[in-house]
Formats: sequence, structure tokens, C-alpha cells
Amino acid sequence: MEKIRTAVVGLNMGLAHAHAFKKAERSDLRWVVDLDERKAAKTAEELGCNYSTDWTKILDDVDAVSLCTPHHLHAPQALQAIAAGKHVLLEKPLANSEEDCLGIIDAADRKGVTLMMAYVVRYLPAVRKLKEAVDSGEYGKPISAQAWVQTYLEPILGSWFASKEKLGGGVLFSHGCHYIDILLYLLGEPARVAQFGTRVGTEWMEGEGTSHGIIQFNSGAIAHLNSSWGMKYTNPPALCQIHLTEGMLQLSRDLWSVEAVTDKGTTTLFKRQPELELGIDTNVAFEIEHFLQCIESGARPETDGIEALRSHRTIWAMSGSTGVQVNL
Ligand SMILES: NC(=O)c1ccc[n+]([C@@H]2O[C@H](COP(=O)([O-])OP(=O)(O)OC[C@H]3O[C@@H](n4cnc5c(N)ncnc54)[C@H](O)[C@@H]3O)[C@@H](O)[C@H]2O)c1
Repeated sequence: MEKIRTAVVGLNMGLAHAHAFKKAERSDLRWVVDLDERKAAKTAEELGCNYSTDWTKILDDVDAVSLCTPHHLHAPQALQAIAAGKHVLLEKPLANSEEDCLGIIDAADRKGVTLMMAYVVRYLPAVRKLKEAVDSGEYGKPISAQAWVQTYLEPILGSWFASKEKLGGGVLFSHGCHYIDILLYLLGEPARVAQFGTRVGTEWMEGEGTSHGIIQFNSGAIAHLNSSWGMKYTNPPALCQIHLTEGMLQLSRDLWSVEAVTDKGTTTLFKRQPELELGIDTNVAFEIEHFLQCIESGARPETDGIEALRSHRTIWAMSGSTGVQVNL
């Protein structure tokens, strides 16, 4: 089988992609691209590939591109890559509007190319184990889930992150989309949602920098996601805890272990092998392997455009909720 010729565009988050494509057996990493020529040249030297500052010029030499660029560029760049017949791995989100998402999905289907959303968390071994444990029924029925993704982002005044239009919203859309995706993956179809957001502490952003979102699922279970880019000090017990009728499952904050707590005590269901060192590309390697496998086999990626749109639609519905005014 001939190797899949790959390129990565945008070398901040994309650095991880580039390293993973370099190591993946099925991939021949040919190009790294960034508007910042020094960054592109340095990465190319490190990885032994070509570099460019203009991604449109390298398309003839690749089969697949990974787009790791600011959100407002996802739709035009994905459409251009698809029109050129390239398979596309797109960093989240798919695009900033429903119309753009549908346009990308339709274009990829018509052209017959693989379109995959880089939902890195989905493909991590601990998350697969957590899903298996929830689905097994061994711990009963899910009642309630909580997830915490709280970090502190240094203000990046005037950047695309600060612009609500370019980012596509606030922290819930930008970072929370991974975890809304995970909650839907674990707990099924959402029935109703609510969300409050605030800019307190993250006034440099036009969108909310802190968000509390709630989902009730068709099963009756409820979930709460607390996401923030404004928390200097934080100490949540886990990344995610799921309370079920016969136990509690928890995913560690580093996303690498899963524990079950029952009346028999605490059992480790998954733990990272100590010999596995965590490098820049360790987490993304799983999604990139899936992307390459799908290109090779023609199978649809698990996180295809439609799947990405499910989480985006859930977030857009959450963002539209206004709550009830209190009059005391
Ligand atoms: N999966 C994750 O955990 C995760 C984490 C961070 C970012 N991301 C995603 O990765 C994407 C990029 O985010 P980031 O934080 O790296 O952004 P960033 O602004 O820090 O970096 C973007 C890079 O892309 C380059 N760039 C911009 N336009 C370009 C163009 N037209 N051609 C070539 N290069 C271009 C910039 O020079 C910059 O180096 C976003 O979709 C973001 O949501 C994902």
C-alpha cells in the first residue's frame, strides 16, 4: 500500500499533528505550512519535510491535509481542500455556523473524500474504556455526569480568540465542544439544554470565558459541564464523574485513567502504561491513526461532519438559553 501523502497547516496545535503524521506508518508527511515562515522552516527541519507559507501551493503534492488554523478559516479552507479532492482532518470546530458545517459535509460527500473532525478526546484509550464501562450496564443506569475543564488563558488581546465572530462564540464552543461531544457519546441523545456564561475575569474575550452548561438526555440522565479560561486556581476531582445507579465512574484530569467506585471499593479500569511517555503527539496519534485508516479503507470516520454537527447544534441550543429572571 502506498503511503498517504500528508500536510499540516497551522503549526501551533498543528505541531502535534505534524509529529503524529511523521510517526504514523501509513503517512508520508510532505509539508508543514504556517504564515510564520520561521516556525514552518524550524518544524520542517525537525521533521525532515518541506515547508511553505502558502498552503494552497502544496495541494498538488498531497492526498490529505490537516487544517489546524483559526476557526473562521475552517470553512473556506476545508471547502478549498475538498474541491481539490483532498481528504481533510479539521481541528475543532467544523465551522462557526450551521450553514458552513452543512456546506463542508455536502462538499466532502459529493467529492467522495474523507472528512474527519479532530475530536482528540474521543479516541483516547481511557475514554473508550469509560464508554465501554457505561454501556456494559455493570454499574447500572447513568443518573448524572459532571465535567470540569477549567484553565487559565493569558489574555490575547486583539487575537482571533478574543473575537466572538472569529472564535464562533466563547469557551463553551471553542474548548467545551470536546466535552459536549464526550457527554453525548457517553450518554446519548440530548433532550433539553441550558447554559449560563459570563465574561467576568475574561473581559478580553467578546464571548463568554466561563460557562456552566446543562444537558438532560432522552434517558432522563442529566449532565453539567463547567468550562472556563478564566480560572487561575482550580482543583476539580476529575475531568468527568458519572454517577450511575450502581456506582460511580471517573475519568482522571489527565485523561489517562478510569476508576469505578462501587460498594466493593475503587477499581482501576484503565491506566496508562508507565513506560508510555507522553509526548507532544501522544494524544493526537489515536485520532490521526483513525483518519489514516479511514482514508485507506474508505470507511466513514467516527467523528465525521454529521457527528461534529451534533455537538455543535447542542452548543448552539445551549447558547440560546436565557434562564428565568428572578424577582425577589
Ligand atoms: N484539540 C485541542 O485540544 C486543541 C487545542 C488547541 C487548539 N485547537 C484547535 O487548533 C486550531 C488552531 O488553534 P491554535 O490554538 O493552534 O491557534 P493559534 O492562533 O495559536 O495558531 C494558529 C497557527 O496557524 C497559523 N495560520 C493562521 N492562518 C494560516 C493560514 N492561512 N495558513 C497557514 N497558517 C496559518 C498561524 O500563523 C499560527 O501559527 C483551532 O481549530 C483550535 O480550536 C485544538
